[in-house]
Amino acid sequence: MDQGLVRTCISLPERLLGRFDEITKKRGYSSRSEGIRDAIRNTIIHYEWMNEVDGVRLGVISLLYEHNQRGLVDDLAEIQHEYAGLIISSVHVHLDHDDCLETVILRGEGKTIKELTETIMALKGVKYVKLNTISPGANYQQPL
Ligand code: NI
Repeated sequence: MDQGLVRTCISLPERLLGRFDEITKKRGYSSRSEGIRDAIRNTIIHYEWMNEVDGVRLGVISLLYEHNQRGLVDDLAEIQHEYAGLIISSVHVHLDHDDCLETVILRGEGKTIKELTETIMALKGVKYVKLNTISPGANYQQPL
């Protein structure tokens, strides 16, 4: 084994691993390990990016969750009420029998937006959370 490589054992739901293996194959990774290393790197990059979100920001949180998860709908409502001063608007879509999609639009301190996002991420039954932020007044137009 290469110097600096550590072997580890992780437990995963079979369906999750099956789905990951399909993606690993399609993306052309030479092995499952390589795919997992890349996924871990992406998680670290995203975490570090979130830590750099500072100053006043506009934010959009997208989340996908199972509405049948015990207590989750109440927890989400309670959390959003706690951060009511930050939230401009939200849209809820009943996707299918099990899942709901919600987008929450916010304006406020980047650190507080990040804190709210991480609180939602930690809830059981939340399948996906993505935060995008924009600096108010930023000009993203490309020069000619
Ligand atoms: Ni719903």
